[in-house]
Formats: sequence, C-alpha cells, structure tokens
Amino acid sequence: MSQHDTAASEGGLENLLHEGRSFPPSAEFAGQANTGPEIYERAAADREGFWAEQARELLTWSTDFSEVLDFSGAPVARWFADGRLNAAYNAVDRHVEAGLGDRVAIHFEGEPGDTRTLTYADLKDQVSRAANALAELGVRTGDRVAIYLPMIPEAVVAMLACARLGAPHSVVFGGFSAEALHSRIVDADARVVITADGGYRRGKPSALKPAVDEALAKGGPVEHVLVVERTGQEVPWTEGRDVRWADALAAAAPEHEPVPVEAEHPLFILYTSGTTGQPKGILHTTGGYLAQCAFTHKYVFDLKAESDVYWCTADIGWVTGHSYVTYGPLINGATQVIYEGTPDTPDKDRWWEIVEKYKVSILYTAPTAIRTCMKWGAEFPERHDLSSLRVLGSVGEPINPEAWMWYRQTIGAGRTPVVDTWWQTETGAIMISPLPGITAAKPGSAQTPLPGISAEVLDERGQPVPDGGGGYLVLTEPWPAMLRGIWGDPERFHDTYWSRFEGMYFAGDGAKKDDDGDIWLLGRVDDVMNVSGHRLSTTEIESALVSHPVVAEAAVVGAKDDTTGQAVVAFVILRADEQQRVAEIGEDIVAELRAHVAKEIGPIAKPRSILVVAELPKTRSGKIMRRLLRDIAEGREAGDVTTLADSTVMDKISRGMQR
Ligand code: WT7
Repeated sequence: MSQHDTAASEGGLENLLHEGRSFPPSAEFAGQANTGPEIYERAAADREGFWAEQARELLTWSTDFSEVLDFSGAPVARWFADGRLNAAYNAVDRHVEAGLGDRVAIHFEGEPGDTRTLTYADLKDQVSRAANALAELGVRTGDRVAIYLPMIPEAVVAMLACARLGAPHSVVFGGFSAEALHSRIVDADARVVITADGGYRRGKPSALKPAVDEALAKGGPVEHVLVVERTGQEVPWTEGRDVRWADALAAAAPEHEPVPVEAEHPLFILYTSGTTGQPKGILHTTGGYLAQCAFTHKYVFDLKAESDVYWCTADIGWVTGHSYVTYGPLINGATQVIYEGTPDTPDKDRWWEIVEKYKVSILYTAPTAIRTCMKWGAEFPERHDLSSLRVLGSVGEPINPEAWMWYRQTIGAGRTPVVDTWWQTETGAIMISPLPGITAAKPGSAQTPLPGISAEVLDERGQPVPDGGGGYLVLTEPWPAMLRGIWGDPERFHDTYWSRFEGMYFAGDGAKKDDDGDIWLLGRVDDVMNVSGHRLSTTEIESALVSHPVVAEAAVVGAKDDTTGQAVVAFVILRADEQQRVAEIGEDIVAELRAHVAKEIGPIAKPRSILVVAELPKTRSGKIMRRLLRDIAEGREAGDVTTLADSTVMDKISRGMQR
C-alpha cells in the first residue's frame, strides 16, 4: 500500500498546507441554523444515546428498539436490532399521514425540457402501485431486484417499491455495460430487473434496454424485466418476460401495506470497485442506515423541509444518489429537484437555469463538476439569479481550494457556507464534514467528524499522528450507516477494511491533520482511482484490457487531471503471436482498446490515453512499479528506478511517449 503515494504528496500537499483562509458562518446563518455547537458535546458524552435519540426523532418505528448497538459480532455491527420499521413508509406514507400529501417531493426536469411534479401523495400512489406490481411478478421480502434506470422519478419510485416489500435493491449505474450489469445480477441473484427503453443524454435518446437483453442473454436468475417507457424508442421485446411499467402500475392497486422489517434487514446492495478485479457488493441494512442518512441530511445541509428546495446532482447509480436523493431527503420530507441530463444541454448554463427556475436553496455536487463549470467560465452562472442558494455541498473527491473558492464566490455570491463532505459507499452516509452554522470552513478540508462519529489519522504503526502530521484515515468506532459486509464474501470484508489496523475501519484514504487538528483528505492510498468522483479499480481496467485478444499485459494508473481529478492512463504490451491481427487493426488500436474497456466495464472506465509499450517497469519480484508509470503519465521525469529489474525500461517508455 505504501508504494502508492497519494496524489497530494507530489506537490499538492504542500500547497494545501499553505491554505490559511477560513470562513465562519455569518451571525445570521448561525442564528437560524438547526443546531449549535452543543450537539458535539451531547454526542461525545453519550454516543449511543445520541444515535438512539436521532433514530427515534427522525424515523417512525413500527416496533421501538431496546438495544442501540451490538458489536459483539465485530466487524459486523447491529444497530437498533430489535426495532422494526419500513423505509418506504418513512420516506413517503408518514408524510402523507401527517397532512403533507400536497408537498412537492420531486420537481423533475427532463433533459429535453419536459417536467413533472410529484407530491408526497403522488409518490405514495406510485410506490404502492409499483410494490404491488413487483409482488405480482413474484418478488417477495428478501428477494433481490436489480434497477438499471436513467435519472427519472421512476428510479426513486422503483427503489422505494423494493424497500416497501423488504426486497433489497441493487442499483446498477445506467452508464455501466451489459457485461457489468450481468455480473452484478448474477452476484446478487436478482430475479427481476427494472429498466427503461432509454433516457435523454446530450440532446438525444440513448438506449438502455438493449444492454439488459444482452446481459440476460448470458443467462442468470432473472425471470422478469419491468420496462419504463421514457423515450418511446423501439426496443427488443421478449413476450412473457418483459412487462411494461405503465401497464403494470395501472393494473395494480394504489394501496399497499408496507412490510415492517427488522432494523438489520438488508435494504440494498451497491457494487463498488475495490483493489481487485471483482467489484464488491456493499451491503447496507435498514434502521441504522436510514437514521444516519436522515441525520446528516438535516444537519449538514441545515435542511428546513418546509421551505428549502434541495438538489443533489448525483445519479442514483452511486451511493450519493441512494443516501442523498432517495433516502435522506424523502425521510426528511424535503422538496427536491431531479434532473435527467448533462449540465451543458442545450447550453452550459442548464444547471443555473434549473437553480433559478426552482429556486434551489441547497445544492450538493462534485468537485469535478465545479471545476468543469469553472473552466466554462462565470458567464454561464452569471446569466441567472442564484440568490435562492443558501448552502453548497461537495462530495466525491478532495476539492482543491481554488474550486472551493470559486464555488463559494461565483455560485454562492461569497455568502453561502460550503460543506465538503467526506464519506464512502461503505460508510453509507456523511462522516466528516463541517456543519454550516457552526464550523469556520477551510477551503479544501472536510475538517471534523460529525457528532457521533469517531475518526483518526494513523501512521504506519497504527499510532495517531500529531497535529500537522499525515497518515491513514481510520474510523475508530462503529457508526449506524456502516456497511454490514460484502455480499457473499465475509472474508473479503474482513481483509479489506479490518485487517490493516486492529479493531478499526481502514478507509483506504490518506489524510493529514493540520495544526488545529482539522482533517484534510489526500486521496486513495490503494489501487483505486477516483475519476470525476467515481471510483475505479486499476486492476479491473487492467483485466478488461488483457481480455482483448491482442493484449499481452497491461498496467493502469490514475494520472492527475485538472478537470476529472484523476484520469485513467493505460500502458499495454501487445501479443507477439498476434501480429497479423495487430496489423489488421493498425492505427486504430488505441480506439479499439478504449472501446473494448467501455464494452467490458462502461464508458466511464475508458482510458484517457493508452500507450503501447514494449515492456513494463517491474521490480525483481515481478511487481509492476505503477509509481514510475504515473510519473510518465503526469509528464514528470521518472523517479527512483534502482529497484527495477531492468533499469533501461523507463528510458524506452519515455522515448515512446515523446514520439
Ligand atoms: C472515496 C469514496 C461518498 C460518495 C461519493 C464517492 C473519495 C469522497 C470525498 C471528500 C476527499 C473524498 C475518497 C473515498 N471522497 N468524498 N469530500 N474529500 N475525498 O463514493 O465511490 O465510495 O468513493 O471517494 O477517496 O474513499 P465512493
């Protein structure tokens, strides 16, 4: 692990530590905030009591719990284990029962400009019908359902319909390939897939259903496919297996009794890249996950459910979409915006047009998007009235101080608090973040573990680093939304997160404590890249490349990129025994290999560049020295080559690079 120095250790770190600006909340903001500093003391005095309070205050339980935390089966925690509740009831029905049925739950903005408004009453009707439709297709409590949809309201409805039945969902990002979808369906043993004909992206309909057909043609457990008609495009149809969403919902009753499940009942599986080729199915359960989602959504964004308009730009295919589009906001009864498409369709001011149109007051997005907007220029946000904004959030990767400042100044008019929120698919919900009415925010730092959360930065030997020191981020106490395991692989769960430091959760991130003890995240310390806030595994992309008939060997590195944070750069050796084939592909080899990766994993995994090389730098024990390849990929002179088996290799690669 230690040979993978973090992105920030090469120059960036020093810059960060000279970042001395700090932005306390205005007296006005602090005065109206949902909480004051006492919340930290309350949580520190009695962590479990604090979480029990949150769970009871923010959720409605059909059976109250008597025990808060049971960690006797560590590393698998049980929170609120003898309590029962239903996630969809909490997200929808209880708001309607409380007389809020007319409140808008979702303002949907399609990319072509079509809109839909769903109130909580509408949502209750849709989710209930969808739950009945799934039950009609044979889905029972405990069965897994795969969801492969664009960013349309049905994505949220589908997730909640599953939750209503206690059928764990496995959402697969619509940008993933048929291959990736197939392996996730098989791993989770899903019996139904919910998809759409397609969705709108970059001004035109893009198909989804054909990928499902291709995935299912490879075999597997799926009995039925529910198909939402979004674009109306022609799609292949398998009679008996495929069912139209609209027909199924129309035929279903609008009443459905939500199934109260145990707090530890699985709510969902979400696959994420690890350090090996095989993605991990991260398992989340119901009670603790929902409690922490609701808590963090309310306090980190200072949510006022009755007046705020909240917009998180994440796709539901990622954990941010699970926790901060579907569960957090709806549990809290918020009004939110969902936008289907890209930020530059039809023009680069689309996001800002949406903020103005719906008077968005809380915006939650990723550094890569902020940097892209920065690159496009202030003229686009300046076309619109953004004065409704009052809190800005960032997630997915370290935000560089320049982007943070631009976000606050240009989008937030120098007035809005910015919260940089650190968390992971595994943590389920936000863990380290400023609180907007309390923390004096520092551009580029996630700063402080939230109330009820315990984090530390450790050195190689497992000792906490002093203020000013750097090391590895760990979580030292169990938290309610923590993953309960890797689907079907308890050993990997233990090895990945719990074996590096005794009794502590190893996050895989490098971090640094500044002189005030505030935490600065520095990037991954393992073979995981972060491209546009999306986690990609070097090994997984290497395996995809090697699965192409002409590739003998491949090495992938994450190279620093001004917009996407990191970019995928691949080095490949072609097979000597396939010269005929290589010659036929000719000049197009790079394009062919990029397309191959897109087919195997998805377009997001496509290398930015691929360099064909004769050899790869290896140690005498045969380990590829990615550090040296990253030097090349980032345009530096290669570092120390003394441990290479053949020290001339790097010269050859650099020469190849200059050609
Ligand atoms: C990894 C988790 C959490 C939802 C989106 C990504 C990086 C995430 C931050 C942040 C610095 C961050 C970490 C983490 N990361 N947020 N605010 N500052 N780094 O979820 O795909 O599970 O990726 O994203 O490296 O380990 P994910």
